[in-house]
This record gives sequence, structure tokens and C-alpha cells, in this order.
Amino acid sequence: MKQDKVVVLDFGGQYKELIARTVRQLGVYSEILPGNTTAEKLREISPVAIILTGGPHSVYEQSSPKMDENVLKLGIPVLGICYGMQLVCYTLGGRVEPATTGEYGTVTIHRTTDSMLFDGIGDSAVLMSHSDRVTELPEGFTVTSSTADCPIASAEDVEKNIYVVQFHPEVNRTKQGKKLISNFLFKVAHARKGYSLTKVIKEQTELVKKQVGDHKVILGLSGGVDSSVVATMLERIIPGQVVCIFVDHGLMRKDEGDSIEKAFLNKNLTFVRVNAEQRFLKALEGVTDPEQKRKIIGAEFVKVFEEESGKFGDCFLAQGTIYPDVIESGANNSAVIKSHHNVGGLPKETRFLGIVEPLRGLFKDEVRKLGRILNMPDYLVNRQPFPGPGLAVRCLGEITKDKLDILREVDYIFNSELNAHKVKSDQSFAVLTPIRTVGVMGDYRTYDYVVALRAVKTNDFMTCEAQEIPYNVLRIVTSRIVNEVKGVSRVVFDITGKPPATIEWE
Ligand code: XMP
Repeated sequence: MKQDKVVVLDFGGQYKELIARTVRQLGVYSEILPGNTTAEKLREISPVAIILTGGPHSVYEQSSPKMDENVLKLGIPVLGICYGMQLVCYTLGGRVEPATTGEYGTVTIHRTTDSMLFDGIGDSAVLMSHSDRVTELPEGFTVTSSTADCPIASAEDVEKNIYVVQFHPEVNRTKQGKKLISNFLFKVAHARKGYSLTKVIKEQTELVKKQVGDHKVILGLSGGVDSSVVATMLERIIPGQVVCIFVDHGLMRKDEGDSIEKAFLNKNLTFVRVNAEQRFLKALEGVTDPEQKRKIIGAEFVKVFEEESGKFGDCFLAQGTIYPDVIESGANNSAVIKSHHNVGGLPKETRFLGIVEPLRGLFKDEVRKLGRILNMPDYLVNRQPFPGPGLAVRCLGEITKDKLDILREVDYIFNSELNAHKVKSDQSFAVLTPIRTVGVMGDYRTYDYVVALRAVKTNDFMTCEAQEIPYNVLRIVTSRIVNEVKGVSRVVFDITGKPPATIEWE
């Protein structure tokens, strides 16, 4: 029996992934497709339900994304969220206007009539974020809830199976949001649960075995969660056939290369650690421009990888591409090689027999969950993002081994103390600035580097705010750094949000 699928039509909303992930967490497979996907295409796909995302536009702008109105005639249950609601109402002849006061933040909805969508949900807190609103509903629709500033906060046409909400049920701040989506899936659309990561493992096992046969599969292993999960998964599926090439560019954090090696050494795979530190440092000599650094590291990585993988003859290439990479590349349906943000791009003209991408359909949180199912160690599964060019973009200006060593020690102390004091952060690291300042140690004058420490809180790494760190922890960290790390005379903390500051300094 084919598994039920929900299609999320994307109108540019920042929460599209959250919607798709919530649906999956509720046990139904979901996919994100462009907002202008035709009714014909959707008929072919035959989803059990369609959800329209929000988006930053106004429906009455000429260039705003529109939908194929026949989608609304397919009889497939539709849930329109925010812009999705406005678009449905506009498309069916309702009226959408700029609100006199926009609604941004948590507000309370008041239920107006019985509705399957709101089954078990009373007046409750929801997240609103809109400046336009629906002022006149299309024929056949009934209002199901309202707020003080938004008389039509949700509505439905049960006959047509169309449900719309102005608020965002997909975010945590909408307290009963998950319940609402669950009602939509199971009470309105009668979807059947059938999606789970164990099932994904089973499917991938069959697929990969069939794809690669007896051939070897080569994987560029960075130690990041995606490539580590791919390595672990493939080791289980095709034991003995996987070759992991870990290019140690000498730009890793303290002991990181060793811990990656330790995690993969006694496994049923070939682990190749290429100690290429000298090579990378040589290539980076005298380079100060951040983009130049990235390019050099990317190009050098490709060279090393090609040399090493060339030793293995005919083989497949495995990649840690995940679903957001697929969505962002706009290639929802076609096969693409991940344009490796991480490593500067693997060669397009590959000599490989094919590409193996077992995580291609998964979100990041699912990849981590999969890692836990596969009993991977916590430090790999929960690893913070680490830029492909490594410490090169955290060692400002020219890179030298001495500077990298200082940076490694500082970074290690900072993160150890955060862990010891249970300060959780989504990303935390040290930056070695090229600035030197005067200090005094004992009776001596010093003239050493300034290091900056940064810890951020973020959901998506597109924006962030500084992670608050208790003052006593800051004091301990600072004191340890200036006392234990030779070459550092001063410690500063970067508490700038993104925007305007990016997370990395370079
Ligand atoms: P920014 O600095 O752009 O960083 O705010 C956002 C996230 O991306 C990571 N980052 C990189 N990752 N190669 C990578 O693989 C890079 O060149 C790179 N630059 C930034 C950064 O660590 C943060 O998590």
C-alpha cells in the first residue's frame, strides 16, 4: 500500500520546513513543492492533503506568488496558513486588505463555531504575524475564530474541504498548533500514519543495495553530523564497501581530528585520514582575504579528495545532502550534486559511477534522530555546525600554525567551561583577532592578541541572538584564557545579533 503524502506548497514563508517537519512528526510523510505547482501535477502526486504556507507578500501585488486555482477544485483537503489563507480567499473571490493595525506576536483567538479543525481546542494563544487580512470571505465560507484585531482569524468551507487560518499553527508559540495540524491531517483529511525513520532506514537499505551492488562507495567525511550519519548508515547497509576519506586540513578544533578518527576506526569500513595540514597551510600562506581563504581551501580539498579517491578505482560517491539542500537548490525533483557550501564544491565532472544520498529526503532534526537510532555517540549526533573552512575563518588575517594553536586552546577552554556550567548554546566558539594590545603580567609589559568569544541562540542560523552567559562563567573563562594561553592579553565577548552581524567573523 502506498504511503499517504502531504504536499506543502511554498509561498516563500520562513516556516515551510517547520510545517513539513510537524506533519512528519505526526507520522505522515510530507514534501515541499513550489507554490505554483499545477493541479495536474498534484493530481498525479495524489497527496492526501495540501497545506499552503505563509509568505512575505501581499496577494494584490502584481508580482506576488499566485496559485493554480484548480488546485482548490481537486477535492483534496486544503489548509491555508497566513498568506496561504489570504491567497485562497483572494483566489475564490473574497477580499483581502491591509489591516489598519497589523498583528505581530501572541494573541488570543476566540472560537465562534464548532469546527473539526478546532476539535478539542478552545480559545487559545496563537502567533500572528500579518499586515494584510481577509475582510470578506468567499461564498460558502464560515468564520471559525476571531481575535480583537482580526475578525476573520480562521474560516472554512467544509463542503469544499478548504480550511484557512491567519495565524501560524506550526510554531511553538501557538499553543495548540500541533493539535490543529493533527486535526487537519487525521480528522479532516483522514490521513493514515505510516512515516517513520525506521521505515526510512528500511527503504534506503533496499535502495542503496540495489544501486551500488558490489561496488565501493567513497564518502568525504568531515565529522559533521550529516556525513557521519551517512557513514554509519552505509556501514550497516553495505559493510566493508564504504571508504571514508577524512581530509584533515589542520584547521580543526583541539583533538577534533582524533575524535573523528576514533569514532570510525574500528568499524566495518575503510577509514582514510589524510594529514594535509602542511599542504593547506602552505596554500594559505600570506592570504588575508576571507573569500580567498574559502576558495583556496575548497580547491585544495577537491585536489586532495580526488587524489585519494582515485586510488579506489570504479566506485560510487556518497554525499550527506539533506532535504533542505534539495529544497534550496530548487531541484525538488531532479538529481543534483550538492553544491558543497562546506568544501567549496566537488568536481562536477565526476568519474564516479553514481551518487548515493541516503539522507536526501530528511530534515536536520531527522538526521540527528536517525543517528540516535543507529546508536551513534552523542558528540557526533549533537555536534554544533562547524564551517567547512574550519578555523581559517575564525583566525582573522593571515593564518599560521602558532595562531591556530592559540585559537584551539582558547576555543577549548571556552567550550569546556560552557559545558561544565551547563550553558547551552546553538553555536559557541572563539575568534583570534589580529589586534594586539598592551597588557601587564607580573612586572612585565606584554603585547599580545585579543580574542573574541561568541555564543549564539538560533533556530535556523539565518538569524541569531547572543546566548546569555552568567557573569561568573564569563569571569572564569576570561581568567583561564589569559592565565593558561600564552599569546593572549585580552578577552572580549561578542554579543551582536544577526542581523546585522553574521555568526562567523569572516
Ligand atoms: P554566518 O557566518 O553566515 O553563518 O552567519 C551561518 C552558519 O553557517 C556556518 N558557516 C559556514 N559553513 N562553510 C560552512 O560549511 C562556510 O564557509 C561557512 N561560513 C559560515 C556558520 O558556522 C553558521 O553556523
